[in-house]
Amino acid sequence: MCGITGYIGVNESASILSTGLKNLEYRGYDSAGIALVGEQLTVRKQEGTIDGLTIPSETDATHGIGHTRWSTHGEPTDENAHPHTDCSGDVAVVHNGIISNYTELKAELDGHIFESETDTEVIPHLIEEEIAAGADLRAATMRVLDRLEGSFAIAATHVDHEGIVAARQDSPLVIGHGDDGMYLGSDVTAFVEYTRRVSYLEDGDVAHLSADGISVFNDGECVEREIQTVDWDASAAGKAGHDHYMHKEIHEQPNALRQAISGRIDELTGNASLDIDLDERYLQAVDEIHIVACGTSYHAGLYAKELLEPLVDLTVRVDLASEYEVYDGFDSRRTLVVAVTQSGETADTLSAIRRAKAPGMTTLAVTNTVGSTITREVDDSLFIKAGPEIGVAATKTFVSQVTALALFTIYLGRLRGTISAGDGADILENIRRLPNAVQSILDAEPNIKRLAKQYVDSDAFFFIGRGLAYPVALESALKLKEISYAHAEGFAAGELKHGPLALVTKNTPVLAFLSESASPDETFNNVKEVESRGAPVIGLSTSDGTESFCKHTIDIPSLGRLEPLVANVALQLFAYHVANEMGRPIDKPRNLAKSVTVE
Ligand code: F6R
Repeated sequence: MCGITGYIGVNESASILSTGLKNLEYRGYDSAGIALVGEQLTVRKQEGTIDGLTIPSETDATHGIGHTRWSTHGEPTDENAHPHTDCSGDVAVVHNGIISNYTELKAELDGHIFESETDTEVIPHLIEEEIAAGADLRAATMRVLDRLEGSFAIAATHVDHEGIVAARQDSPLVIGHGDDGMYLGSDVTAFVEYTRRVSYLEDGDVAHLSADGISVFNDGECVEREIQTVDWDASAAGKAGHDHYMHKEIHEQPNALRQAISGRIDELTGNASLDIDLDERYLQAVDEIHIVACGTSYHAGLYAKELLEPLVDLTVRVDLASEYEVYDGFDSRRTLVVAVTQSGETADTLSAIRRAKAPGMTTLAVTNTVGSTITREVDDSLFIKAGPEIGVAATKTFVSQVTALALFTIYLGRLRGTISAGDGADILENIRRLPNAVQSILDAEPNIKRLAKQYVDSDAFFFIGRGLAYPVALESALKLKEISYAHAEGFAAGELKHGPLALVTKNTPVLAFLSESASPDETFNNVKEVESRGAPVIGLSTSDGTESFCKHTIDIPSLGRLEPLVANVALQLFAYHVANEMGRPIDKPRNLAKSVTVE
């Protein structure tokens, strides 16, 4: 977690770094800071968001580094904010990740005075010692890196040494190659206003950025990292007139879906054409799939299981990545492990993939982020092509993940002969209709907003669904709780009577998925159970006639197995408007950040 930014070049550094920090704020917003290097080193840092930070406007700084923090070691305070400096105030360091041996290192730094509770602060002090012993900034940083244990991305500067030295170990860093200088970021959004030409650092890389360019070293050797052009521009990362990124991203879903399916639907053969290179004979022989993911991506994995199992003749296991263990009892050569991750940087998911690789399982990432760590560790990647998602609450990437996994289901089923061309074509037709179906829900926003306002003061919100709708019930509850802080739970509809029914009162609205593909008849019984306890029911339904069962209904277009996915969009809007009505900081929910790069 946390965001790192850096710039060296001919332009005014302070404003470029300030833009970088604003763009990266979604990665953490407990505290923010900046170090500017000119005649002297100027550090400004404090608890709170970047808006509260006073950044000097006219400076002689030729370069600098910045940081936005999601705290791990030490509370969010001014002292714990980055950059951290050494005793002399000449070295400044920003860091993302965890230095696991910092206590031992700190104990060795005799006579050094520490001002924070962070693990990071040992780094500038260690660099200070190396520089005092005669090393330049690059050599000093490299020597210090050899002593650090853990996962990290760091950037270091020194008032009397040229450039910025940046290093990556298990935590992302991207270099931007501009006409007017070199940029550094935890991700491309840090500098996309200035350049779209990027290169991704790899684990073990140490990059030395100077006004003239960049040198990258790995294991003592000078290495080249390919320069790529990212295919989205600054406006993709802006709010485009919406009050919140989340709202913009909810509304971007029809287009995100068009991107996800473009060129991937072959209606003639009833097949999906996916740009993955896993060996076809291997995929025909696979007899088990393990899906590993966290949070919203885990819910996409649960949805995928409901799609895959009946259509592909495979056992599908879905594990929270942090809980995934590789046991004996299955054939690792016939098990495919699929990691679903928007960012491609989630530490729990990366670590699950590493556990899967140890006994030789083949791995596939379903991700939004080209160049992310996961894409470099897995055997192959399937990109969901949703475009940048800045809102901490995942929205468009959830529908795009499920859609990519629906395409994967068809691809695998056709390959294994478990889906006929006709069935493939039917499912593909629903996938093709998905963007317009989602648009029809977005068009009903005023109605959904009214409902949200009506129930904003409820004691709790319950979401119930069966089969394909169960993961969406979980996802809808997660969305509402993370941005509104209201108590929200998702349940398998049939489970209510086994305990949660005790929570139901007239002040706990129940949102029920009643679409044709989600066993509505059985769920109607559960609706009656809650209604008879006085709970108002909002039904999401594809058919007429639910009005007599539910206090309110939201119409969902008929779309076979994808109906619950479309219903999910209605509940993203419901969550958004409840949270907005409560005045919550929707794009920056408390205690959270996007991209959780610590386990
Ligand atoms: C919730 C949310 C998180 C992420 C989770 C995994 O709205 O965004 O639950 O889904 O942290 O992140 P990725 O998909 O980047 O691995």
